[in-house]
Amino acid sequence: MSPLGRETAVGIVGAGAMGGGIAQVASTAGHQVLLYDTRAGAASRAIDGITKALNRQVEKQKLSSDDARAIVSRMRVVDAGESGRTALSAFADCGIVIEAIVEQLDVKRDLFTTLERLVSAECVLGTNTSSLSVTAIAGTCAHPERVIGIHFFNPAPVLPLVEIVPGLATSESLVHTVRALVDAWGKTTVIASDTPGFIVNRIARPFYGEALKMFEEGIADRPTIDWAMREVGGFRMGPFELMDFIGNDINFAATSAVFEGTFYDPRYLPFVTQQRLVEAGRFGKKTGRGHYDYSVDAPALQPTTDQALGKSIVARILAMLINEAADAVATGIGSPADVDLAMTKGVNYPKGLLQWGNDLGLSAVLDTLEELQREYGGARYRPSVLLKRMVREGKQFHQ
Ligand code: NAI
Repeated sequence: MSPLGRETAVGIVGAGAMGGGIAQVASTAGHQVLLYDTRAGAASRAIDGITKALNRQVEKQKLSSDDARAIVSRMRVVDAGESGRTALSAFADCGIVIEAIVEQLDVKRDLFTTLERLVSAECVLGTNTSSLSVTAIAGTCAHPERVIGIHFFNPAPVLPLVEIVPGLATSESLVHTVRALVDAWGKTTVIASDTPGFIVNRIARPFYGEALKMFEEGIADRPTIDWAMREVGGFRMGPFELMDFIGNDINFAATSAVFEGTFYDPRYLPFVTQQRLVEAGRFGKKTGRGHYDYSVDAPALQPTTDQALGKSIVARILAMLINEAADAVATGIGSPADVDLAMTKGVNYPKGLLQWGNDLGLSAVLDTLEELQREYGGARYRPSVLLKRMVREGKQFHQ
């Protein structure tokens, strides 16, 4: 198919956290952008929010006021009007429409089948879903070959990574066209297969899960695990801090979606500790309480800064993460280069996990997993077949 240039009008459906961010990205890249939301006033509030954010950049002299004005002037609200369906006809001239609406399969399917009837035959339909199958979203479309996952990370204008996710029926040429478009928006793109959690949200699961497991088993308390992952591991935030930052509701839903989507693979087991927090409304920072208490008079919790304990915590979580990355390559979820790029650009890991495995020594990683497997039994700690093969053949990733 022909390339999507700057003259392509971009439609965005859903003007929440993600839709607004994606609108800003596309408009900054020079596209005319139409923004629509079923909630009256939501799209104009999103544009107001973007305008304020751009003005702050102007104040900091990171953007000229002319550029800020031009970016805002390229975005237009599609009025919800009397009926949502008729409002969508405003997208008739768009070359691509990206949806960032509520994460419900039936609602997304309904939107796509409606859109299909209103847009041109060439129009690309993108979904920003983070946990649903792109194939399922496209499943009720007459032309599923033009539907593709375009998964941004939050906040979209800041985080560089975008996972491009072809569904089962997506045309090969569309993958290249959409990747070129999103690259031209200044993003770092990777191709992910349409599997639960795609690359980032799947490979990152043990960062949280293994921390929760060690906590539940009393191996270390939360501040100690967080301290170890930050100070010994070099991660920006510890797992419990990060769960509270993301929101335990969101993080638990992501874990549950991957667990269910992989037909209950024990590697992705959710933990009761987090479920109880969600049930209690302790979502984290946004509710003032999660794994930690964020009230002003809450006592500061001190970690046990024992280096040996810290190293064993990091070794265990890292071994699980590296195993997950190796398995993602083994099962075609992403290429080795994309898997490493995705974790550094999407979730700010200090190093790509496969490279990290090379640096630690793949046989040391395998030893840690085999030790855990001996101790616990079952399938949770089973080493990836690729990791075993690499060690057996004395190979390294990225060779
Ligand atoms: P949000 O709740 O902030 O915004 C969703 C918006 O869609 C709301 O304004 C809602 O009124 C609107 N909406 C719902 N149904 C609609 C329909 N049928 N037509 C038009 N508008 C409709 O949600 P958020 O966080 O922006 O997420 C949107 C999508 O992006 C979801 O699929 C989510 O899984 C995905 N995503 C979210 C990320 C995040 O960190 N929040 C990261 C990456 C993807």
